[in-house]
Amino acid sequence: MLSTVRVASRQVAVRGAACRVVGASRQASTWANVPQGPPAILGITEAFKADTLPEKINLGVGAYRDDAGKPYVLPSVRTAEDKVIAAKLNKEYAGITGVPEFTKAAAVLAYGEGSNALDRLVITQSISGTGALRIGGEFLAKFYPGAKKIYIPTPSWANHGAIFTESGLEVQKYRYYNKDTIGLDFEGMVADIKAADKGSIFLLHACAHNPTGIDPTPEQWKQISDAVKAGEHFAFFDMAYQGFASGDTNKDAFPVRLFVEQGHNICLATSFAKNMGLYGERAGTFSIVCEDAAEKKRVDSQIKIIVRPLYSNPPVHGARIAAEILNNPELNQQWLGEVKGMADRIIEMRALLKENLEQLGSKHDWSHITSQIGMFAYTGLTPEQMTTLAQEHSVYATKDGRISVAGITTGNVKRLAKAIYAVKG
Ligand SMILES: Cc1ncc(COP(=O)(O)O)c(C=O)c1O
Repeated sequence: MLSTVRVASRQVAVRGAACRVVGASRQASTWANVPQGPPAILGITEAFKADTLPEKINLGVGAYRDDAGKPYVLPSVRTAEDKVIAAKLNKEYAGITGVPEFTKAAAVLAYGEGSNALDRLVITQSISGTGALRIGGEFLAKFYPGAKKIYIPTPSWANHGAIFTESGLEVQKYRYYNKDTIGLDFEGMVADIKAADKGSIFLLHACAHNPTGIDPTPEQWKQISDAVKAGEHFAFFDMAYQGFASGDTNKDAFPVRLFVEQGHNICLATSFAKNMGLYGERAGTFSIVCEDAAEKKRVDSQIKIIVRPLYSNPPVHGARIAAEILNNPELNQQWLGEVKGMADRIIEMRALLKENLEQLGSKHDWSHITSQIGMFAYTGLTPEQMTTLAQEHSVYATKDGRISVAGITTGNVKRLAKAIYAVKG
C-alpha cells in the first residue's frame, strides 16, 4: 500500500516537473531581464574568508574591534539592555518619530545642553545614520526651495551618492582630499563652496571623515561656516561618529554647534552604531533646526508624512537602550568612559603603526596616520599596492588605500607594518 502511494505521488511529481518545463519553454521567467548588479564591496570579506593563513589581517570592516580583534559590546550597553529587559515593557508600536526619551536626549547630545536649537528642533528617530540621511534627502528633494542637488566631498562615504540619488537629489562633488599631502584640500574645498550657485546644499562630515579620517581644524570650520553663509548655502551634517573620533562627544560635535551658533539652520543625521556599538540595532536620528515654533510644526508634519509610507515607525529596542544610557547619569558617565576607551585604542594603534614603520627604517612620511582621526586611515597606498598587500601578505582592505584602524591590534601591528613596508618602502 505504502509503495503504491509512493509510486503515485512520484508520478504526480514527474508530471508536475514536465508541465513546468513545457511552461518554461512558452514563457520566460518574470525576472529574466533583471541585470546582474556590480560586484559588491563584500569582495574583501570573501577573499579574507578564503585565505587560510592564520595571521591574515582584515582591515576592511567598518565596525570597532577590541584588542583581540573581536566585536565589542560596551558594558554600559549590556547594563542598559538588562534594565530594559527587566522593565518588561510592552512591544507596542512607537510613534512615527520614535521613542521620545531617546530623541530628546539624542538632541541634547548632538546640539549641546542649553543650545538655542533645541526648542525649534524637529527630530525623528531613524533607521540609524543611513535612514536619517535618506529621510533628509527625501525632505530636501520635496521641499528645498533651491536647486535639488547636493554637494558631497571627494571622496565620501561610499553610500552617500546612492542615498541622495535614490532620494531624488542630483549629486555633485566638492574638493576635499589632497592626495599629494594626504591631507585636507582646504583651499579647494572653500573655493568650491564659494563657486557653487547661491543656495546650494552641502553635505559635511561632522567628525572622523569617512573614508579619509581627515577633518578640518576648528579654525578651518569657522572659515567653512563663513563660506557657507556667504553663499546662502544649506548645511546638512552627517555625524556618524560623535565621541568615537576624539573620545569626547562635545569636542566631536564642535562643527554642528558652531554652525548653529553662527545662525545656520542646519539639518543633521546621527547614528549610535559606532559610539554605542549598536550597529545592528539601527538607532539614529534625523533633525532639522527650524526658524520658529510655527515652522517647526509644519516641518514636523511633513517629516511624518515621509516616514509613514517608508516604515511606519522605527524599532524600539535599540532606542530604549540608548535612551537608558543617555538619561541615566551614572550609566551615561560609564558610557562616556567607554567611548573614550574605544577612541583611545584607535589613537594608540595609529601611533603604534607609525612607530613600527619608522623602526623598520621606512623613509616615507607617515605623520598622516596619526594626524587623521576616527576609525579609518587613508594610507596613501595605490590600488596596485593594496592588491599586493592582499595577495602577498594576506592584509585585506579597500583598493582606495583605506584601512580600518579598528582592525589593528597590539598582536598584529608588527606584521602589518612589515607588510606595508615591504610594499611601500
Ligand atoms: C559617514 C557615515 N555616515 C553614515 C553612516 C551610517 O551608518 P549606520 O547606518 O550604520 O548608522 C556611516 C557608516 O559607516 C558612515 O561612515
